[in-house]
Amino acid sequence: MKMSKPNENHACACSCPNLPANELADSGRRQMLTSALALAAMAPMAALADGEPADAAPKRSTKPQEGDKLAFMLGEKEGKEILPSDLKIGAEPTLAYPLDPATGKALVAKASLLVVVRLKPEDLKPGSAKNAADGGVVAFSSMCTHYGCPITTLHPNGTQVVCNCHGSVFNAADRGVVTNGPATRRLAMLPLELKDGAIVVKGKFDGPLGPPT
Ligand code: FES
Repeated sequence: MKMSKPNENHACACSCPNLPANELADSGRRQMLTSALALAAMAPMAALADGEPADAAPKRSTKPQEGDKLAFMLGEKEGKEILPSDLKIGAEPTLAYPLDPATGKALVAKASLLVVVRLKPEDLKPGSAKNAADGGVVAFSSMCTHYGCPITTLHPNGTQVVCNCHGSVFNAADRGVVTNGPATRRLAMLPLELKDGAIVVKGKFDGPLGPPT
């Protein structure tokens, strides 16, 4: 897919100020995708706000934890486990939720949404390499650290991910550090490993999620 240059002036669907949108370029489709993802990510939060039956059994946290697998957020495989073979070098990032191995259910919440991408192993810096599964599969919180839009796009250089709201770029090959603002804080990385042929969460996020408060 032909990529447009990330643009700091993109309009967006997040709760940020209404920045100029004088060069929307070809981002219409991506904006729609970003908007849809933002709404989809928020829907579970709204459902939770409606409350649950008082006698509902306690549920585990939706935060990813050691031993979780990963599930597709969208598409025909929605809710299904992501296998190593599903992730290709150079493909657009996959949006994912943790998958509770005890129930086989995706743990749906905005704060647990992940952006997952397979990089060339030789491109990984040590900080990302130690948290990668199957040589090059890395996962980060999808919540942009600028204003919280979901991150959905691979940069043309193949090693970075882009937030389409205002063009922040994060280096997936180096612990999600910011390489182009307006975001100033790196993405939180979720450590992964390959276990019995499956992509498995190895630990907690290694930093705070979303924008600084
Ligand atoms: S929300 Fe502004 S760059 Fe991501």
